[in-house]
Amino acid sequence: MMKEFAQSVDAGLSQSEKTLPSKYFYDKNGDALFVEIMKMPEYYLTRSEMEIFSTQTLDLITSFQADKNVYFELIELGAGDGSKTRKLLEALSEQGYQFDYMPVDISKNALDQLEQSLQHNLPHVSVIPKHGDYFDMLGSVKNSHHPKIVLFLGSNIGNMTDAIASDFLYQLGANLSENDKLLLGADLIKSADIVLPAYNDENGITHSFNINLLHRMNAELGATFNPDGFVHAPEYDEIEGIAKSYLLSNCQQSVEIKAIGKTYHFHAGERIHTEISRKYNDEIISSLLDKTDFSIAAKFTDENDYFTDYLLNRN
Ligand code: AVJ
Repeated sequence: MMKEFAQSVDAGLSQSEKTLPSKYFYDKNGDALFVEIMKMPEYYLTRSEMEIFSTQTLDLITSFQADKNVYFELIELGAGDGSKTRKLLEALSEQGYQFDYMPVDISKNALDQLEQSLQHNLPHVSVIPKHGDYFDMLGSVKNSHHPKIVLFLGSNIGNMTDAIASDFLYQLGANLSENDKLLLGADLIKSADIVLPAYNDENGITHSFNINLLHRMNAELGATFNPDGFVHAPEYDEIEGIAKSYLLSNCQQSVEIKAIGKTYHFHAGERIHTEISRKYNDEIISSLLDKTDFSIAAKFTDENDYFTDYLLNRN
């Protein structure tokens, strides 16, 4: 039986417009590159959301409407290095709330690092990590009967098409209970001169992040990609509000993937679509929520109006 990774790669590379799923960016190397991306001057997303978390911490906590006498679960989808959440965890535990912090991430490596650093910095916070993708965790959410606050930060939802995002939010809502909360971080639609550099930095870190997918296929699937045969090629359409990343083949080339047992052909200038990073406004968020049981209860925006954390109530 072929690994899930091999199967997805074959499905994506067999299409006339080749694609690869962005969730495979995050191996050990990819995690480290994403940490570098978050520190880049061009990558305003992390800084903007961090500003919200540091300057509006108490308002955020109030919006959760949690009871200090009732235990709740604080679940974070795609926790990564949890840098923004630290502020929140610190304040919640200082104020005497009773909760477990449950980070969910596709990267086992990122989860292990997060658990270790929290044990060191916030020893009073109980951490229960869960390894898997966003859809995998829906079942475990359903099986617990405690109140829940779900964090889905960093505009991580932007990697999903609107159809998948609304389906995911529908399913998440269906697995939660009345008055549970979802804090949804969304990068806002803005002009290309701000967005595009965030996905096309001067130092080529985003290039390395995208190219890492080729290294990963070489290492894990026995592929023969020449990483110098492709370049990172991002695009952003400010009307639709979607940034797209591609790997562009700079020559005609063939690549064998042993784990699949096939050879794939690329012509010069052909692109592999590797990621979308959707940007939002209130209308788009509302339309994603249309068929779900969530409604917008509060909004937290940074000073520049770059980024919003939406507090959604499960009705
Ligand atoms: C982690 C999905 C929020 O889309 O902005 C950063 C990933 N890709 N640079 C994003 C990413 C290229 C990031 N998210």
